[in-house]
Amino acid sequence: MAKTNNKIDRRLRDLVRRHGTPMLAISRAVLRAQLERFRKALPRVEPFYAMKANPCAAVLKTLAQAGAGFDVASLAEMEAALAAGAPPERLIFANTIKPARAISAAAARGISLMTFDSEYELDKIAERSPGARVIVRIKVPNVGSIVELSLKFGVDPADAISLLIKAHKLGLRPAGVSFHVGSQCTRVENYIEALETAAIIVRDARLKQVPCGIVDIGGGFPIRHFDDEDDPFDPAAGVIAREIDRLFDANVRLIAEPGRFIAGPAGTLVMRVVGKAIRENKHWYYLDDGVYGALSGIVFDHAKYQFKVARNGRTQLSTLAGPTCDSLDIIARGEELPELELGDIVYAENAGAYSLASATNFNGLEPAKAVLVP
Ligand SMILES: Cc1ncc(COP(=O)(O)O)c(C=O)c1O
Repeated sequence: MAKTNNKIDRRLRDLVRRHGTPMLAISRAVLRAQLERFRKALPRVEPFYAMKANPCAAVLKTLAQAGAGFDVASLAEMEAALAAGAPPERLIFANTIKPARAISAAAARGISLMTFDSEYELDKIAERSPGARVIVRIKVPNVGSIVELSLKFGVDPADAISLLIKAHKLGLRPAGVSFHVGSQCTRVENYIEALETAAIIVRDARLKQVPCGIVDIGGGFPIRHFDDEDDPFDPAAGVIAREIDRLFDANVRLIAEPGRFIAGPAGTLVMRVVGKAIRENKHWYYLDDGVYGALSGIVFDHAKYQFKVARNGRTQLSTLAGPTCDSLDIIARGEELPELELGDIVYAENAGAYSLASATNFNGLEPAKAVLVP
């Protein structure tokens, strides 16, 4: 559902005048505020920002200065996080399947904490990074999460201890257990069930004297996308914090890998109408960004956005489309919009995560420019 808004328009107009469109305006203040909200709501959990959500160098620098750790998924991400000022001990290599070369590079850079979810991966890690601290990722329910992750990752929880024992036999240091409840998880029961499963593994590991002192609760923390929704984070975080206190004593170190929660609310994607047509008796507005660009989350992340415009007036059902020659590049149908003119601004808030990160240059179009604002 689209919305008209005149107030915010002046600030965006200034930015557009200086930087053009398409532009992803990213607020440093909101990045810091989201990190602080996370720390306050989950005081026992250390946030390792999942930089896949938004890897802009200035975002990483802002978060590194605020003391965040980083979840990195590749050699390039590792280098970007280190370049932003994060010390190697504040990085977790949280891609369970890693090229051997990337494991060697992590070892060379002093990054020793990594996740795995297969015996084959353990052999690779043992060869390339002897003595690395390894965390076993378990499969947990992803029911109702917008992006399902347990399909591709995680071992059966019943196999976790034997894999940690195998890690020890290979000369690695078993370190803990991790999970991911699925991204944009609005069903807090997923966290509760996963935490209970992790607690059983930690208890069992103690009995068998296998080190398992870290519980990594992954990402998935949800954000609000539409103005008329309640913010889903605080109620969920309250429940998670209580479960953590109930299940884990002070000897257990808790970490998390929030991506969307940190970067999503900080980003506003600002576009312009570059073309207009009437098709099927409806107005179609062609914007200068679309699903091959910073709105790629519509395809890859199942994202939905609230599109806002700076015009008032009688609304009509309209279609928003992107600038490429592909008919897949339709952003939204059935948007209630006043009649727009060429050059008008259309923007979407809460677009800081999984947006520019997966934008392409398809049709020779430059991805949106990332602009950090105070
Ligand atoms: C291993 C891992 N950690 C963390 C995240 C971040 O998840 P979210 O953005 O839902 O917080 C992802 C997302 O895909 C992931 O794969």
